[in-house]
Amino acid sequence: MTNDSKPTPTGLALLGCGTVGTGVLRLLQHKDGLKVRAIAVSDVHKDRGAEVDSDLVGEDIDSIIQRDDVSIVVEVMGGIEPARTAIRNALNSGKHVVTANKALLAQHGAELFACAHKNGVELMFEAAVAGGIPVVRALRESLTGDRVEGFHGIINGTSNFVLTQMSEFGATFDDAVAEAQALGYAEADPAADVDGHDAAQKLQLLMYLGFGLSLEQQVRDIRGIRALTPLDFRHSEAFGYRVKPLAVARRNADGVAAWVGPALVPMGHMLANIGGVYNACFLHSEGLGALLLSGRGAGMMPTAVSVVGDIIECARKQRGTKGRAPMEGTVRSEVLANMDERQRIFYLRFTVVDEPGVLGRLASSLGSFGVSIERLVQEEPGGKEHTEIVVLTHLTKQTALKAALNDIDASDFTLAETLWLPVEDPDS
Ligand code: NAP
Ligand code: HSE
Repeated sequence: MTNDSKPTPTGLALLGCGTVGTGVLRLLQHKDGLKVRAIAVSDVHKDRGAEVDSDLVGEDIDSIIQRDDVSIVVEVMGGIEPARTAIRNALNSGKHVVTANKALLAQHGAELFACAHKNGVELMFEAAVAGGIPVVRALRESLTGDRVEGFHGIINGTSNFVLTQMSEFGATFDDAVAEAQALGYAEADPAADVDGHDAAQKLQLLMYLGFGLSLEQQVRDIRGIRALTPLDFRHSEAFGYRVKPLAVARRNADGVAAWVGPALVPMGHMLANIGGVYNACFLHSEGLGALLLSGRGAGMMPTAVSVVGDIIECARKQRGTKGRAPMEGTVRSEVLANMDERQRIFYLRFTVVDEPGVLGRLASSLGSFGVSIERLVQEEPGGKEHTEIVVLTHLTKQTALKAALNDIDASDFTLAETLWLPVEDPDS
């Protein structure tokens, strides 16, 4: 324990400080309970800006892993070696490991998961599949009580970004790939993305979790997106489809049918509308039915969110934290805001007598409480003695709205309690 009796922060070693590693450091700035003790890179002389403490940076991966003050090793270097040896050494030294490296896990996962098991430590990999989308956690935890029947996903952000740039903005293939690289989406060699291998590695990890398929069984039916031209987008759309870079696995009587490649998806399907760097995992399981998880599938911060989530899970294990309460020092404490004071737009439906002057009285009551009308529609009476008036307000405080509705609902021209609904745009 430190002097002010806070628990000693959990020590981390970061192997790699590129796109993902830098995002991880950024998120960890706000997590008192976790402290990076050392960072391994391939070029110690590279300028990494003020975000990276140069005193922590070194090249000797093994001595960094073996430090006594490090209990979690975070591998965000990529590639097979030295990542494979580093992870194996860390696990054998009793350290938990978090990795984003799907290429390594798809090829050597069986050995590395066995090593973690033997040493009683975690090897976590949420960021290895679909960037910031918690699909590994969904399969490993939430859906374990169900039987997964099928998976349809867009799990390569670069390919989806490239196809979107080409089909919607007329970009060339090469320009779109260069942009994906500049945005930090692409693998060190972007051929892994556009030729389908990255998606196949991720699909293998998903099938391991969802179908218990051994990692030794490699997906063979893999196609990339290089051959597509604007003509394909145009004609697919004319037929009612959109071209999407899919990864598919379906449970069949003779085994799991798995393939990766661009395919025509019906325009009305949710997957057809997942564009840019967004990924989507569309799962079918026996009890639950369809489940769609979607979000940013590549890039610095979305991927870092998954890495740091795994780090915190390991830290909880290491500290013996029980239950689901947030780990101390990892969640910023908030208070509930007063809803009455929030400004929102409201939809109102008044049921009133159909008589001259009612509309004026209604509008003047709203105005007297400071509720301003943006739009107003009166329904055709259609022979009834009452009518319905629908209003969309400007931004209004809920207190003002409720006061106005109390007044209107108590009046002699109102026949039923007024319905009010807030307008809520999740993207604003
Ligand atoms: P990156 O930007 O190329 O960064 C790689 C980092 O690892 C660099 O800091 C590099 O050092 C270091 N490194 C490479 N080889 C090393 C070695 N032999 N010894 C020590 N350090 C070494 O790669 P990234 O995009 O962050 O990707 C990292 C991993 O995350 C990969 O496994 C990738 O598949 C995975 N991933 C990436 C994304 C994404 O959107 N980028 C999303 C999900 C998963 P220098 O800085 O000195 O060159
Ligand atoms: N290169 C990968 C992609 C990174 O584009 O999806 C995320 O795994």
